[in-house]
Amino acid sequence: MKTTDHPYQLIVTLYCILPTVYRPLPTAQHPLFLTPSHVRLTFGPMERNIADLKRQFSQVFGEGGKIHVVRAPGRVNLIGEHTDYNDGFVLPVAVEPEITVVFRGRDDGKYRFASTAFPNDLDEFVIDGNIPKRPNHWSNYPRGIAHEFQQAGLTLVGIDALVINTLPVGSGLSSSAALLISSALAMLALTGLKVELPRLAILAHRAENEFIGLPCGIMDQTIIATGRAGFAMLLDCRDLSRSYVAIDPKELRIVIANTMILHSLPGGEYAERRKDCETAVAYFKTIDASVKSLRDVTIPMLEESTGKLPDRPFRRARHVVSEIARTQEAATLLGKRRYEELGEIMLQGHRSLQQDYEVSSPELDCLVEESMKVKGVYGARLTGAGLGGCIVALAQPRAVETLTLHLQKTYNEKFKKVPEIYVTSASAGASMIE
Ligand code: GLA
Repeated sequence: MKTTDHPYQLIVTLYCILPTVYRPLPTAQHPLFLTPSHVRLTFGPMERNIADLKRQFSQVFGEGGKIHVVRAPGRVNLIGEHTDYNDGFVLPVAVEPEITVVFRGRDDGKYRFASTAFPNDLDEFVIDGNIPKRPNHWSNYPRGIAHEFQQAGLTLVGIDALVINTLPVGSGLSSSAALLISSALAMLALTGLKVELPRLAILAHRAENEFIGLPCGIMDQTIIATGRAGFAMLLDCRDLSRSYVAIDPKELRIVIANTMILHSLPGGEYAERRKDCETAVAYFKTIDASVKSLRDVTIPMLEESTGKLPDRPFRRARHVVSEIARTQEAATLLGKRRYEELGEIMLQGHRSLQQDYEVSSPELDCLVEESMKVKGVYGARLTGAGLGGCIVALAQPRAVETLTLHLQKTYNEKFKKVPEIYVTSASAGASMIE
């Protein structure tokens, strides 16, 4: 199979090795796109047919034994972008597109993982001291979490597991963190051992940073493990405390539009921005020794640094410091149902990501701008790391259809691609289904 046949593999490769590369997402023929339609107005339990999931499992691993199912949602971040690795706040939501893992225990200590996204590419490993990483392979996610469990002293048992997605891979909706968390729940379920969900998020984060080698923050793993149906989560990435803010589905819809440009967390791009933030922190430490991260930098301190800090780290810091403030304000406004003001803050966040953090793209800008032309849309912004992937818009329920059609038409006219649209409510964090 060619390198480009593996979106996970691509993400890893691009993140670590290549400079900025925009790649088109797999086409509608790709196995992840389960319907030919580009509009998916509902997801979740309605689409989850347990008997069918089990049938797919038996086709790969054979009949018999007790078959279980776990699920992990994707995530969309309403605001608080590139703040998690700066000890800031984020406001993500678990979404209905999900990863399910269908599995059965084995008593010979073998771990076998297959994925409908990568047919005929079953991975097998054993846990005997050291779990090797497979170069650029999707199964490094289950391998990585098994490695973390092993490091934590948990004794696992063998497993046959089939991974099935409704969550598109590589679209910036955290399919990798969802794969880590769902694999983790499946492995734990067979042992009867319990790991609290916030701790599971920390282990999954470590697996992604250390085993997989992606220097991401803690947001994705936390919301996927500990999200609540009907709520956004305000996460303090410094002390990992969480509070939940209700999203009333009668008043608000979360609409996600996919640029169909592979979100790849490109190696240079994400890591470079982290470095710029570190450069800024090093400067602020010389002004105030108590500064540990950009979380400790105030707006007056930032203003004071104008002309002293080199331009790029200055603008990165300006984004992070202002975004942390925006995120806290956004959570308050959401709680008070002040949607117009919330929408304005989302737009400010997008502009800051565009101009100061430089992670937007013409495609993302187009989707944001066109969303804002539709009556009943409160706000829109790029979501996730940027440079491809998705935008998120908050809209009145009655605006959803017009918004969907408008985005499809205008984006297609400009970029000759039809964006997939996902309309979702806030879903629950990962769970055992059966
Ligand atoms: C990616 C990372 C997250 C976070 C976002 C940007 O999704 O996985 O940890 O840094 O980018 O907010």
